[in-house]
Amino acid sequence: MTHPKKKLIEVAIPLEAINAASAREKSIRHGHPSTLHLWWARRPLAACRAVLFAQLVDDPSAHPDRFPTAEAQEAERKRLFGIIEELVKWENSTNEEVLERARAEIRASCGEALPPVYDPFSGGGSIPLEAQRLGLPAYGSDLNPVAVMIGKAMIEIPPRFKDRPPIHPGLKERNHYRNAEGLAEDVKHYGEWMRERAFERIGHLYPQVELPKEYGGGKATVIAWIWARTVPSPDPAFADVQVPIASSFLLSSKKGKEVWVEPIVDRQEKTITWRIRHGGTKEEIAKAKEGTKAGRGANFRCLVSGAAIAPDYVKRMGREGKMGQTMMAIVAEGNRSRAYVAPNDEHVRIAFEAKPDWKPETPLPNDMRAFWTPPYGLTTFGDLFTDRQLVALNTFSDLVHEAREEIEKDALAAGLSPDPTPLREGGTGARAYAEAVSVYLGFAIDRVAMSGNSLVRWNPVGQKAQHIFGRQAIPMLWDYAETNPLGNATGALNAAYKMAENGLRTVPCGVGEIAQQDAQGVSIHEGSVICTDPPYYDNVGYADLSDFFFVWMKRVLRPIYPELFGVLATPKSEELVATPYRHGGRDLAEAHFLDGMRTAIANMSQQSSTDYPTIIYYAFKQSEVAQDGISSTGWATFLQAVIEAGFSVLGTWPVRTEMRTRQIAMGTNALANSVVLVCRKRAETAETITRAEFIRALKRELPPAIAELQAANIAPADMPQSAIGPGMGIFSRYACVLEADDSKMSVKTALQLINAELDEFLNDLHGNFDPETRFAATWFEQHGFAKGDYGAADNLARARGISVDSVRHAGIVESLAGKVRILKRSELDPEWDPGTDDHLTVWECCQHLIRVLENDGEYAAAVLLKKIGGERAEMVKDLAYYLYEVCATRRQDAKEATAYNGLIAVWSDLTREAAQIHDTDMNRQGRLDI
Ligand SMILES: C[S@@+](CC[C@H](N)C(=O)[O-])C[C@H]1O[C@@H](n2cnc3c(N)ncnc32)[C@H](O)[C@@H]1O
Repeated sequence: MTHPKKKLIEVAIPLEAINAASAREKSIRHGHPSTLHLWWARRPLAACRAVLFAQLVDDPSAHPDRFPTAEAQEAERKRLFGIIEELVKWENSTNEEVLERARAEIRASCGEALPPVYDPFSGGGSIPLEAQRLGLPAYGSDLNPVAVMIGKAMIEIPPRFKDRPPIHPGLKERNHYRNAEGLAEDVKHYGEWMRERAFERIGHLYPQVELPKEYGGGKATVIAWIWARTVPSPDPAFADVQVPIASSFLLSSKKGKEVWVEPIVDRQEKTITWRIRHGGTKEEIAKAKEGTKAGRGANFRCLVSGAAIAPDYVKRMGREGKMGQTMMAIVAEGNRSRAYVAPNDEHVRIAFEAKPDWKPETPLPNDMRAFWTPPYGLTTFGDLFTDRQLVALNTFSDLVHEAREEIEKDALAAGLSPDPTPLREGGTGARAYAEAVSVYLGFAIDRVAMSGNSLVRWNPVGQKAQHIFGRQAIPMLWDYAETNPLGNATGALNAAYKMAENGLRTVPCGVGEIAQQDAQGVSIHEGSVICTDPPYYDNVGYADLSDFFFVWMKRVLRPIYPELFGVLATPKSEELVATPYRHGGRDLAEAHFLDGMRTAIANMSQQSSTDYPTIIYYAFKQSEVAQDGISSTGWATFLQAVIEAGFSVLGTWPVRTEMRTRQIAMGTNALANSVVLVCRKRAETAETITRAEFIRALKRELPPAIAELQAANIAPADMPQSAIGPGMGIFSRYACVLEADDSKMSVKTALQLINAELDEFLNDLHGNFDPETRFAATWFEQHGFAKGDYGAADNLARARGISVDSVRHAGIVESLAGKVRILKRSELDPEWDPGTDDHLTVWECCQHLIRVLENDGEYAAAVLLKKIGGERAEMVKDLAYYLYEVCATRRQDAKEATAYNGLIAVWSDLTREAAQIHDTDMNRQGRLDI
């Protein structure tokens, strides 16, 4: 049997670059393919792209003929890292030159006939999309029809109409169309077509508003109507008055330009009216911020009587159909800013005029962890919308069907084939094209629904409506913004179809297909490379949440994809999510998740190509990271499932999407919010070993593997997680490891042993430093920068064969009045020069390097690094790893840990820059420093 070639991802990946690009991508809202349609817990495209590249491209060690020495391999790895560093940048995602360089590298490793990539949990489609971008045939499947539809819209439909000009009869925007640009232009055109017809049909329900004098008068388009829910006053004297239960009266919190609504209560008349207030005293604004809230949850006070309104009362009123709503304000398009107008009778009357002829009856799940509205009487997905919102969504849905006919006519006129093959069967003629455009128009309706329901919050900071899925749940809301679907802001149809259009413009258009399949039994194309991101435990209830979209998609897209939308709701029972309410309790839910996941992973392991490692993403739950760190139960259980499914785990790369500049993120393990598992099928001939043999193997193989990770500048914060890879590689290479009592060693125990080995490795590093540095490191571990007794310091110094005075002379500590303390970086001599220091220690070099990096930036630090020189520089890096570990785990000092992590994070850049600095530049820099 020939051994498969080792891939880059089995040895090292440039984590810092991947993490930084993934974090940056989070803030990109425009032109990201994810703007096509929301899906929960999407992986950043940058990470997917880099991981796929490293999964396919050979590690240089696989070619000893071309790279015979460790140095040659390292140099080649650096070159490949350079390609990844360019590849992950968002601005390069459509840069053909950069992409082609990556594709050429993949072809060089995989041959001209590229292997297909398969993702059996494809969700929002990030992995297949990136596989396609890299030129590979991309396939995927998901259990959820909404996810399947999104996947198809991203990777399956656009290639059918690649490079085609739009078919609409209007003026065309350009002469040449690449990829899906023509399709995107048609989405915009027919989106506008729909909007014009919607105006004719329901425009009267969305009147403009008269602006008051201070806004310059005249009529303006409404952005949103701000409502508060109401219940009858609990005071019997006012039982006939509906009183608002509002969590805030604040409309704009812009400093100095605050706007809020003031309720005017007339007890005689038993009425509450609303007045817009600008500015006001601090107390008034603070009060406005509280609305009628009297505490957390559904605790309010009655504006008319002052009586307390308790949660149970609110729930009862909701269930009995006695919850209403009152309009508190109208937000309109002002002259360069928002205009806030008090409600008027006409606007209130019109809002209640709308009568929908259909509403989704699908019940909301009885899952109080994520769905909070049912106890208040909002029990179906239809209940989440006001009547006027339902009328708008119904009208838009009908219009998509009409648009489809119109598009088909226009497409025929534009010369598209009359071939009647539908889109779902691979059609590319006029009918299929009309269906394709309708899919994206349907997505636009979903986006209108997301920002056009009664759980949309008005955000007084951004002065805009905030869609329902701020988190992976449907929480209850008391005051809400009813956005204007015929306006121009969030919640409007035109904003929605533009999002779909923009998302479509950036998709790559290669070969690809997405199908609806349960991952537990899916049959995967032969020879597929598997890369997947399964659901993690109970993090996201995809099926339940996605019914919010399913009910609308079904209405709009059922004729196009009857097999996806012919069911009542999204499939639930096979979903691999540990949902206690569905499975009859926590334990049963856990068993369902683990059994299913084991089956799905075993299915992958049986069908995956032996030429490539399989990649499985594991997403940490935030609380899990915070509470348990890296050896949490969830993580160990998941690894156990992977190993039991027949895989060896060879790598565990932490990937995060938090900015590395964020203080807490830098200093703690909390930043590793997902881990990329690198797996290979375990050999059938794998042996069984004992615990003692396993520990011996760890001691033999782990230190060089960790040293390799350090050589690749894996940041200290990422080290504990990354070191698990080679450790698990040893553990899972064997059929099993037997404990002394002949029981099988659990993954949890193996993880503990691996962590202990890592600690030992770092302690061994300690032994290599000069005695002053060893003194400082131990003293620092015990005291930090605080004072300690001279006697203890003296003992510690003597044990290292030096005196406290020698450490003081080295410029590390202050020794005064019987107390010793380590000097802070801010106290160090800013004129320090390693070239003239006659008592140079690694400690000083490390602290000065961080000082210069933090105060003067990377170039100045590179100059200093050059002066410190090669061999000592490596020791500085070792010390930074060691001190990070001391701060993060033993001293729990996240801020100080950040400093060491930050140094390693830029180490590659510093060494690169240092190598390019000439002595003349150093002198120049020296002069500049003065
Ligand atoms: C973490 S998400 C994938 C996200 C995706 N990588 C992305 O970036 O958008 C996990 C997916 O697994 C799907 N899923 C859950 N149970 C499944 C099953 N039994 N078979 C196939 N897919 C399933 C969910 O619907 C969800 O879309």
